[in-house]
Amino acid sequence: MRIAFLGKGGAGKTTTAAGFIRYMSKRHPFVLAVDADVNAHLKGALHADGLEDAAYELGEVRGEIIEYLKGNRTDLVGRDMVGTTPPSLQSNFITVSPSDPIIAKYSRTSGDGKISLLTVGTYKESDVGGACYHVKLSGLQAFFHHLLDGEEDIVIADTTAGTDNVATSLSIAYDINVFVVEPTRKSLQVYLDFLTVAPHLADKTYVIANKVDSPEDELFILKHVAREKLLGLVPQSRHLKRFEQGKKEALEDFMHEQEPVFARVLETLQSKPRNWDHYLASLRSTHTKVCRDWLDEYYGLRLDENLDEEFSYPKAIARTQRANVGGKQLVAV
Ligand SMILES: Nc1ncnc2c1ncn2[C@@H]1O[C@H](COP(=O)(O)OP(=O)(O)OP(=O)(O)O)[C@@H](O)[C@H]1O
Ligand SMILES: [Mg+2]
Repeated sequence: MRIAFLGKGGAGKTTTAAGFIRYMSKRHPFVLAVDADVNAHLKGALHADGLEDAAYELGEVRGEIIEYLKGNRTDLVGRDMVGTTPPSLQSNFITVSPSDPIIAKYSRTSGDGKISLLTVGTYKESDVGGACYHVKLSGLQAFFHHLLDGEEDIVIADTTAGTDNVATSLSIAYDINVFVVEPTRKSLQVYLDFLTVAPHLADKTYVIANKVDSPEDELFILKHVAREKLLGLVPQSRHLKRFEQGKKEALEDFMHEQEPVFARVLETLQSKPRNWDHYLASLRSTHTKVCRDWLDEYYGLRLDENLDEEFSYPKAIARTQRANVGGKQLVAV
């Protein structure tokens, strides 16, 4: 299962994603965390031993990742694979495990082995004036579209501010989107704008009201957010400030304030099992759209034609399970 935290700049996406990662890592054997923000702050917010070292940045190694995921596929016949290319049965896939080859190589794992963190990374000097973050995100798109996570797996992503998620195939990658919203008009507007441009994502989009410190704040949120969409309210916490002032024990106090909301987030995530066939259909139509919009012209080729039509995620899952039983790595068979 995959969840993304979205919202306006400064609303508390990273704080909330880090809190939910900690919450889940206390209840679950392993959590895969993804920092998909151009300003990567998740590592700092997790305060977990072992994550301090610099990790690979997926944005920098996207070519390597895509090459690995390509596996032995023959349907591309010399054409490039891009972030939205749907997999083939000959692709390599990824599982949510610290020993998965991609996760082991490109993430950092906490000292207790419970959290692995993947980071897309930020701009480099060489990007100034010319790079687009969506290009950096293409490795992460391919990663998600080849990730065979089950209902028992937990993947939690922190994202860029605003409604950017709708502009890439990451919009279909997550089982639920949770907007972190402050009780202000500007913060709410980002959520409302998202629903306006992506009404098809409304069903899997929810809200956490953050930094709420009065009944008026709650009323303000409820004026604009349907009650069933509101997963809970997190107070404007004095504990977080105490923690940031150096009082280590204050992080636990803040966690207690977040816990009832996180219980609701988990319940909501569990109520949305993925339909892999819908996922594949959305991926195929998204890929065709980006091909027609610009990729075909850029490459001078039709990139979405003659791809493996036999492919289905349940078939890929069955194959990798068989390979796993044989004690082999989860690579193309
Ligand atoms: N419930 C809360 N109570 C008090 N302070 C909070 C709360 N949630 C977040 N903050 C503070 O608000 C600031 C912004 O939080 P955070 O970095 O999580 O936001 P963000 O949405 O990830 O921002 P960005 O868009 O820059 O990535 C931080 O200083 C954080 O400590
Ligand atoms: Mg952030």
